[in-house]
Amino acid sequence: MTDWLQLRERPTLVVGAGGLGGAGAHALALAGARVLLADVDAANLETVRLRAKEAGAEIETIQADLRTPEACRALVAEAAEKLGGIEVFLHAVGRNVRKPLAELGDDDWESVVNLNLSTAYWTGQAVGKIMVERGYGRMVYCSSVSGLLAHAHHAPYAATKGGLNQLLRVMAREWAPHGVTVNGVAPGYIETNLTKAYLDKDGNREKLESLVPAGRLGRPDEVADTITYLSSDRAGFITGQVVYIDGGRTLV
Ligand SMILES: NC(=O)c1ccc[n+]([C@@H]2O[C@H](COP(=O)([O-])OP(=O)(O)OC[C@H]3O[C@@H](n4cnc5c(N)ncnc54)[C@H](O)[C@@H]3O)[C@@H](O)[C@H]2O)c1
Repeated sequence: MTDWLQLRERPTLVVGAGGLGGAGAHALALAGARVLLADVDAANLETVRLRAKEAGAEIETIQADLRTPEACRALVAEAAEKLGGIEVFLHAVGRNVRKPLAELGDDDWESVVNLNLSTAYWTGQAVGKIMVERGYGRMVYCSSVSGLLAHAHHAPYAATKGGLNQLLRVMAREWAPHGVTVNGVAPGYIETNLTKAYLDKDGNREKLESLVPAGRLGRPDEVADTITYLSSDRAGFITGQVVYIDGGRTLV
């Protein structure tokens, strides 16, 4: 088969080895990209690495806690050194704290802003410089339907996803002249470690499924397919966009 996506041998950094980052790294590796996957959780890294190996692809892993600018910059520098540059970047770390606004503590706010938005800025700025110098790059961020809809008990999460959408639009605008695209995927509910406990409680799964015109929740591989396309050479004229992968959830 021809290399339609032209991802073969592309030096690729993925941060986040959870449900969506893991699925994205897997799909990119199967498309032939040389993937370096970073996460704070060694077990998640190993799960993704082994799954790729079973499928005949290789993923190199690196354990890193991204909660400071220094850690983000050090990771990007190490990745560029190991891979000989970075042409594809996927940001897929994130967390949610579900509480009514009045009950949120300062730590809740700060930890969500730090992981969801600040790491996106710190890693993205460092990766962007490398891509601009190379004159080529594909960056993809995991946003969310929560960046658009006003879900109750999602204040810090929704604020970070709305902020992320604007951050990636400015990155896209500044770096478009240099062959670098920056886009977001915005999934609805997908079952991963981020959502599993909530979906398993109090009939939440059925309630949420009933809000989706397609009548079901999404799967990680459905998000990974969009990530793969936006990371590919084929998507060179798409930039600053947030693609909703939600079975129509944001239409109603
Ligand atoms: N699952 C969904 O339904 C859904 C929907 C919309 C958006 N998203 C977004 O997609 C992204 C990935 O979500 P997911 O479902 O894969 O979540 P997940 O919980 O399965 O994975 C998140 C990963 O981030 C890692 N991580 C946490 N703190 C870290 C740190 N300090 N340094 C490095 N890594 C760290 C975790 O170890 C984990 O592997 C997030 O930004 C999330 O907001 C998910």
